[in-house]
Amino acid sequence: MSEPDPNAAPGPTPHRRRPRYKGTHPRRFEEKYKELAAEQYPEAVRHVLARGQTPAGQHVPILVEEVLSALVPKPGERGVDATLGFGGHAQRLLERIAPSDEHRAADDEHRAADDEPRATRGALLALDQDPLQLPRTVERLAKLGFGADVLHARRTNFAALGAELAALGWNDGADFVFADLGVSSMQIDDPARGFTFKHDGPLDMRMNPKKGLSAAQWLARAAVEELAQALTDDSDEPHALRIARFVKAQRNELTTTVALAECVREALAGRADDDAIESSVRRVFQALRIEVNDEFGALEALLRQLPSALRAGGRVAVLTFHSGEDRRVKQAFERGAKDGVYAAISDAVVRASPAEHRANPRSAPAKLRWARRA
Ligand SMILES: C[S@@+](CC[C@H](N)C(=O)[O-])C[C@H]1O[C@@H](n2cnc3c(N)ncnc32)[C@H](O)[C@@H]1O
Repeated sequence: MSEPDPNAAPGPTPHRRRPRYKGTHPRRFEEKYKELAAEQYPEAVRHVLARGQTPAGQHVPILVEEVLSALVPKPGERGVDATLGFGGHAQRLLERIAPSDEHRAADDEHRAADDEPRATRGALLALDQDPLQLPRTVERLAKLGFGADVLHARRTNFAALGAELAALGWNDGADFVFADLGVSSMQIDDPARGFTFKHDGPLDMRMNPKKGLSAAQWLARAAVEELAQALTDDSDEPHALRIARFVKAQRNELTTTVALAECVREALAGRADDDAIESSVRRVFQALRIEVNDEFGALEALLRQLPSALRAGGRVAVLTFHSGEDRRVKQAFERGAKDGVYAAISDAVVRASPAEHRANPRSAPAKLRWARRA
């Protein structure tokens, strides 16, 4: 079966039947029918956000104002959002580069002279490798007035950035490129995607579940040394070898998220306190996710292509969530600055304010770096 065209016009929102659940409130992701139908229940969504939580099926964008300050998107510009996700950043970028007709009409009234040109609508090339989320985001943005004329959505890995720019005819590159690395809340919170150890689900972890090995398959094929190396390199796990030996000694394959988490807890029982053991579980899941999706390979490919993907004076901003990502971005920007590819780079990382941290605890690890093409 062929995949639906992510740029196709949106259809009507399907009616969701209220699911059965135990107790007075839905607890599981798939039971949260009001949050999953946000347009019909805006009040329920506001409630969840006010509690500092992320509504099921949504992603709260991080460091938005800081990203806009770094990218300075202007009407008529061409931009790239390499990690579309729920489209929170994309929406704000599109509002700047492709203001709606109403905005432009209001602007016309304020234009001093008739010979002053009307702001043209720019365009955003938006990439995401997730075939499940991409059509939903395209539909959401189309309803906000950002249809296929201004939003070019492609289901692809951002390692293919250069090819996607060429396919659009943007051969001299874009005015800005943005990347918000890692997984979205829609992916983490849905147990069926296999990223979380807080609820049971298949041990999958693929951002594109139609491609490559699931986490369970990757684990079954990896040797002890390969697994231990991944745990060390990708998440600095101090008990890497012990965990790797324990996981590989299991007689049955680990096929669920809870089974893997339990296995790590057993491996470390009596060797660390409960909090330290939970941190190890989190690091094991992070490392596995990085391997399954070849996240560092894709990031390095993106960083290599950036100089040719940006027009002269073009801006890039990257949001990272752990040291392996931040180190790669920092080194690439510093190398570019030394070679004269970048005219300016951020000298320190930008972090979420205490207020943002309180409103959205998922912003806590985020680090923003930017660079400007010479
Ligand atoms: C942190 S979320 C982005 C959230 C987004 N900025 C928003 O406002 O909703 C990261 C997204 O990037 C996608 N992604 C991660 N690595 C990717 C890659 N190498 N190629 C394409 N998409 C990727 C994920 O599937 C996920 O949807």
